[in-house]
Amino acid sequence: MSDLPRILLIGSDGQVGWELRRTLAPVGQVIPASLGGHGGPAVDLVDAASIRKVFNATAPDAVVNAAAYTAVDKAESESELARAINADAVHVLAELCAGAGIPVVHYSTDFVFSGDTDHPYREDDEPAPMSVYGQTKRAGELALLDSPADALVLRTAWVYGVRGRNFLLTMLNLFRERTELRIVDDQVGTPTWSRMLAEVTAQVLHAVFTHAVDIKQVRGLYHVTGGGAVSWFGFASAIREATGNDCALIPIPTSEYPAPARRPAYSVLDTTKFRATFGLKLPDWHQSLALCLEDLSEQTAPRV
Ligand SMILES: NC(=O)c1ccc[n+]([C@@H]2O[C@H](COP(=O)([O-])OP(=O)(O)OC[C@H]3O[C@@H](n4cnc5c(N)ncnc54)[C@H](OP(=O)(O)O)[C@@H]3O)[C@@H](O)[C@H]2O)c1
Repeated sequence: MSDLPRILLIGSDGQVGWELRRTLAPVGQVIPASLGGHGGPAVDLVDAASIRKVFNATAPDAVVNAAAYTAVDKAESESELARAINADAVHVLAELCAGAGIPVVHYSTDFVFSGDTDHPYREDDEPAPMSVYGQTKRAGELALLDSPADALVLRTAWVYGVRGRNFLLTMLNLFRERTELRIVDDQVGTPTWSRMLAEVTAQVLHAVFTHAVDIKQVRGLYHVTGGGAVSWFGFASAIREATGNDCALIPIPTSEYPAPARRPAYSVLDTTKFRATFGLKLPDWHQSLALCLEDLSEQTAPRV
């Protein structure tokens, strides 16, 4: 029997969850729970009884919830499902973790903001979500922050990585298929590598387990993204440059790329509070992109 704390990782098949499986391994005994039940218990966040059952059966020392309803546009027509997963399920987790007196880490989004500002958003800026996804994620934040649970709510943004549905992989596919792409240039944010997010999450949880920080003092809301800011067009251009593609990129306004959900025009998050509280550095988005592309090319290189 391991002495390591037991970490119930919900959503272990998602892009962040998949990275967390590895980064949390040195910190605790990871119990990966997912909708499909791959390599661990199955859990369906739509069903409160399923959440309670997994929680009680695994008796965790901490919970990390990387699961969410993340289909931003589809959420506009599936608001009940989005709310059930992003808000109601988080209420249940808050109740369970508060009852057991264990820490819980949860993720939220820059889409809780309206984006009509020109300074990086701080944790005390008032959210005003413009989409169903943003509204349900805000409700999930409050489910934890208004509860007595020792919760760390990490708001992040523009997550990409080597796995899952994300902008980087979409661009790499489109570069192969098209000679020209039109990319939105009037939405500005910060790309965040899923592995970087998973690594800092593990460092934070390690600090909590070893009492390097007092969870009662540090519980609350944090902004955690890469450093810097860029538009989608700028991000696509950097990917194109780094991978030596010659697909032509044309900057367009959001009005020329209509989508069901409204997105913030500016959603850069100020990460000062997170960096100061936990003494951690958050690399600039350029640096993380280079490392992620290196990882991707190693994965796809032929083995000798
Ligand atoms: N991606 C971004 O750009 C971004 C930006 C800001 C914040 N975030 C937040 O970061 C966190 C991680 O996001 P991500 O990008 O890793 O998302 P993701 O790749 O879409 O993963 C989400 C996971 O949740 C699972 N899930 C969905 N419905 C479920 C249910 N009813 N029961 C159990 N599991 C369920 C999904 O399983 P299936 O795949 O089987 O459905 C998937 O594995 C989320 O809280 C998200 O809101 C993401």
